[in-house]
Amino acid sequence: MNKNKTILLVEDERIAFNTILETLEFFGYQCYGVETLKEALEIIKKVPFDLILADYMLPDGTCFELLNAVKKFRFNLPFVVITAAENQKIIHEAMQKGASDFLKKPFNLKNLPVIIERNFERLRIEQKRNSPQKATVLFKTIKALIAALEAKDPYTSGHSLRVARHARMMALALDLSEEEQFTLELAAILHDIGKIGMPDHILNKASHLHELEYRIAKEHPVVGSNIVGKIDELKEVAAIIRHHHERFDGKGYP
Ligand SMILES: [Fe+2]
Repeated sequence: MNKNKTILLVEDERIAFNTILETLEFFGYQCYGVETLKEALEIIKKVPFDLILADYMLPDGTCFELLNAVKKFRFNLPFVVITAAENQKIIHEAMQKGASDFLKKPFNLKNLPVIIERNFERLRIEQKRNSPQKATVLFKTIKALIAALEAKDPYTSGHSLRVARHARMMALALDLSEEEQFTLELAAILHDIGKIGMPDHILNKASHLHELEYRIAKEHPVVGSNIVGKIDELKEVAAIIRHHHERFDGKGYP
C-alpha cells in the first residue's frame, strides 16, 4: 500500500467526517478535510491531491461541481463520490462526469483503504498502458506543428531552433529539473507557432509594419498558446508561448 498519497475528504456530516478522516490517517494517508464545496474548490488550487473523496450532497451544492472543476486540470485524478443511498441516477451521472468510483453510505470503514487503493491501482494500470502510445502521438503532433510552421515560414523555424538552443543552455545554467528543461525547450521550439495564423503579406513584409499590421502580428503569442493549449499535456508549454513577448518593464504583449 502506498502511504505517501494525499487525499482530500469533502464531507459535511460531522460524524462521517471524523471517522473517515481518522480511518484514512490510521492507514497512513496524508489527509485534508473540508466541509463545503466552496472550501474544496479553494483547496484544490493549492494542494496537488492524489485522490478526492467527496460526499454527493454538500451544504452549498453537489460534488459534481467540484468534479467538473477537477477534470479541467487533472482529467485522470481519482474521484470517489460518496452517496447517502443507492441512487442509480446519481451513480450513473457520476460515472458519466468522470468519477472513478463511488461509495454507498453506510459503509464498512475497513473497506475504505481497499476502495482507495483500487483507484490508485486502476490509475497505475491505465498510465502504464497509455504512456508509450500517448508519448508517440504527442511527439508526432509536435513534429506536425513544427512542419506546418516551416512550410509557412522557413525563417521562423531556424529562429525557433536557435531560441531552443539558448533556452537549453539557460535551463542548464539555472539547474532546472529535467522536466522543466524539457518544457522550456519545447516552448522555445513552438513559441512562434501562432504565426501560422498570420497573413503571408504581414509575415513576409520586409519593410516596417503599419499600425494595423503590427496589431495583427502581435496576436501570434495568443494564437500559438491557443493551438498548443488544446493538448492537455502541453498546458505549461502553452502558458510560456502566451507570454514570450512580455517584458519586465511592462512594455511587451499581449
Ligand atoms: Fe514571437
